[in-house]
Amino acid sequence: MKSQNILITGGLGFIGSHIANNLLEDNRITIIDNLSSGNLNYLNDYNHENLTIIKSNLDKVNLNKCLNDIDYVFHLSAMVSVPLSMEHPIKCHDENVSNTINLLDACVKNDIKKIIFSSSSAVYGDNSNLPLNENEPPNPASPYAASKACCELYLKSFYESYNLNYVSLRYFNVFGPKQDKNSPYAAVIPNFINALLKNKSPVIYGDGEQTRDFVYVGDVAKANIKAAESDFNGIVNVASGKRISINYLYKIIKNTLNSEIEAEYLPERPGDIKHSHADISNMTKIGFEVCTDNFENQLIETINWFKLIL
Ligand SMILES: NC(=O)c1ccc[n+]([C@@H]2O[C@H](COP(=O)([O-])OP(=O)(O)OC[C@H]3O[C@@H](n4cnc5c(N)ncnc54)[C@H](O)[C@@H]3O)[C@@H](O)[C@H]2O)c1
Repeated sequence: MKSQNILITGGLGFIGSHIANNLLEDNRITIIDNLSSGNLNYLNDYNHENLTIIKSNLDKVNLNKCLNDIDYVFHLSAMVSVPLSMEHPIKCHDENVSNTINLLDACVKNDIKKIIFSSSSAVYGDNSNLPLNENEPPNPASPYAASKACCELYLKSFYESYNLNYVSLRYFNVFGPKQDKNSPYAAVIPNFINALLKNKSPVIYGDGEQTRDFVYVGDVAKANIKAAESDFNGIVNVASGKRISINYLYKIIKNTLNSEIEAEYLPERPGDIKHSHADISNMTKIGFEVCTDNFENQLIETINWFKLIL
């Protein structure tokens, strides 16, 4: 993608900053971010001449003004935590659904070429029909999951009603440099790395044989760009298509850090699903393929980044 005007909501966050860094040299980027979890330093150069940063809540900006002259929108800002959405379902609806429909409305009014929406595998809920295909019915088990499913429907309806081109990308378990390790809702990989770097035992819930489909943040950023460049409209899983058990994950992180510390096993958490595994065949529709035999190297890169910021 070259010489395009691009808006990234949540562009200072974990995934959004990777997209921004990929596009910054060859395009003009506007980021809207309230810095609730984002960080200016996640950008390679936040003073870059191609970059405009609007530090604001998405619902406080004049979207029509921001979208004037924009070609592509990557929409990532959201309440991202499932437990937080359970504590504050109305706020989750406002931040995830209302903000999205307002953005879609502004996209139509400003003739945007395409919007790429960050959805989630949470939309599938507990579904044992693995690997999960995009045609499985949504089965949301949290306000967060419902908000993502709802946004996907709005994107489809805006495509049908107003020809607004879109792709909803359903990310599975994203990991990599810049993932938040301090959040009380931190994901499993930053949790394990952070605990071991501090010589503490990380917690594994259940027997550790539950599996997840991990995907590297660099691949997620590339999938976003490919989705924007493609002619495809619809929903695409973004994952590696590989099942990794939590016990195996812990073993690699522990070995990489030369640690002797054992994990502490606690009872399974209510609501945790046993296995998550994506059918990734739809990724070819956006012309994207993940390199699936790179997991250990990607983990090493991630560990090295966490070591730097400790
Ligand atoms: N990380 C994952 O594993 C994962 C998995 C599935 C889906 N997603 C989705 O991907 C997107 C990005 O997630 P992430 O992991 O990079 O999270 P993140 O918290 O690092 O990024 C979100 C960014 O949005 C900003 N933001 C939040 N609310 C805002 C608001 N109301 N107005 C303006 N800015 C706001 C935050 O400051 C942050 O920079 C989210 O929509 C999330 O639901 C992430």
